[in-house]
Amino acid sequence: MRLLITIAAGLALTVAGLAQDQKTQIKRVPAQGSNPGSGVEMFKQYCAPCHGLDGKGAGPAAAALKKAPADLTLLASKNKGKFPGAMVNNAIVGAEIAASHGSRDMPVWGDIFKSLAGGQMIAEMRVKNLTSYVESLQQK
Ligand code: HEC
Repeated sequence: MRLLITIAAGLALTVAGLAQDQKTQIKRVPAQGSNPGSGVEMFKQYCAPCHGLDGKGAGPAAAALKKAPADLTLLASKNKGKFPGAMVNNAIVGAEIAASHGSRDMPVWGDIFKSLAGGQMIAEMRVKNLTSYVESLQQK
């Protein structure tokens, strides 16, 4: 039996659930548009597959990744109570990747958002609203 779940614009998840060979495979598909003004809508669509709807890192695609997705609710508490807005912004855009080596599991959303309708300005709005939404998920 083969079950295809399309859970996100950035990703589609193929779950092949055979008794002996339980495997979750991630299939990357082109991102669909979404409301750039809604952090929660974009988070559900682009981030929840890996980070989970609650941001804690247990999304359906998490099992198929080499590296566990970060718990996005503890970013402030791990940073002496201060939400690391610039770091989150950079992590989403993917700005630091060029400088570092290799690849990462997390998609480079800066490029993906620029490929969607609206161009650079709307892409920046998406990142800003996603960052604010991640800030709203912070736990003490
Ligand atoms: C394909 C899975 C995947 C998707 C989709 C994804 N992430 Fe990630 N994310 C990861 C992984 C894995 C890490 C852990 C570090 C790494 O791989 O660089 C991470 C790390 C992060 C970090 C850095 C946290 C830290 O402490 O360094 C932030 C912030 C983040 N993700 C936010 C987001 C947001 C916002 C979205 C949606 C726009 C998103 N992620 C979508 C997999 C994903």
